Amino acid sequence: MNEAIPQLHTFDEPSLDAAFATLAEEVRTADTNDVEAFRLHWLGRKQGRLKLISEAWLKSAPPEAKKALGIRFNELKALVEYQLSPERLVKVPVSESGLIAEYATQGTISANLHKKQHPYPLDITLPGSLRTPGIPHPLLKTMHEIVSVFHHLGYSTNLGPQVESDFYNFEALNFPENHPARDTQDTLVIANQHGRPSRDRLLMRTHTSPVQIRTMIAQAPPIRIVIPGKVHRNDAADATHSPIFHQIEGLCVDTNITFSDLKGTLDHAMKALFGSDVKTRFFPSFFPFTEPSADVQISCIFCGGKGCRKCKHSGWIELLGCGMVDPAVFAAVTAERRKLNPADDAYDPEKITGFAFGMGVERIAMMLHGVSDIGHFYSGDMRFLEQFA
Ligand code: PHE
Repeated sequence: MNEAIPQLHTFDEPSLDAAFATLAEEVRTADTNDVEAFRLHWLGRKQGRLKLISEAWLKSAPPEAKKALGIRFNELKALVEYQLSPERLVKVPVSESGLIAEYATQGTISANLHKKQHPYPLDITLPGSLRTPGIPHPLLKTMHEIVSVFHHLGYSTNLGPQVESDFYNFEALNFPENHPARDTQDTLVIANQHGRPSRDRLLMRTHTSPVQIRTMIAQAPPIRIVIPGKVHRNDAADATHSPIFHQIEGLCVDTNITFSDLKGTLDHAMKALFGSDVKTRFFPSFFPFTEPSADVQISCIFCGGKGCRKCKHSGWIELLGCGMVDPAVFAAVTAERRKLNPADDAYDPEKITGFAFGMGVERIAMMLHGVSDIGHFYSGDMRFLEQFA
């Protein structure tokens, strides 16, 4: 290696380029087998060439040439550092297939691999890193299963926003402002909304039902849709509750839709999901947007209905809410549709009826897979998730 630092008399760009090109060539052709010697030679704090160059050139350069000199100096330094980078220093002496062939024929690894100039040799005796293919998350998988049952019945899928307005989440669903029914869904609201009209105030949707309204405003009957999605409530997390969870909503609106259609549809869906032995029963319930409303129970899938700890010895497990679409909901939809077409009567409750239902995905996934704590779904623990592969 050339030890002397050449003198630099002229500092115009072509002279600088020429001077640095010589140095760059020196770096490129330098022997890097002795990594430490190379490092000291160029980067040594007292006698390293970069240090000497900086002293000899940068200090004597006229002020107007300092910038051009500095840029080239930094490029040179980057080149030196590149020569020392692990990527460059890992040189595999022969092609990988060559190595393997050598290993196969001689039963030894090329001696080259252990030579000092290869600080990070490729060690083909190490086990390979196994890449497992990804799988759908168990909640997504359950959602797909439920949605697919309804797809087979001719339903399509719709989605809606998670940040929703008061109008879609509550008002149009017949939860008037200040009505106690709102308390059943402890709502997470978006801050600083008080300046807005109450119907426009934003919140995290507490259920997927607002998408019923969005769908009906956008399209006339007949409607058969399922709506999978994330919902939020101000619930404390415990083994069966989470402030963020998932629901699947269903909506069927057409002429002559009756409660028996609702019963038949859900009975079929429960049998498709849990097995054909499962029985369903409907209990009177209340939701502001359905009338009449019902809670659906299925015969306990753990004890077959005999009574066990899981079904609290009743033989039945409550699984979802449903009911016939309340005429007040059709009225809210019609009022919106008439803003665009004053003559609209697509949702005339004298001609049109419908049913809706909503189910919690976590609860169904927990039952299907015997999961005892809802938190497992969100923990990201591979030991849990891998079981669904
Ligand atoms: N949205 C209701 C809830 O979250 C469930 C439901 C949906 C009930 C549709 C009836 C009809 O509790």
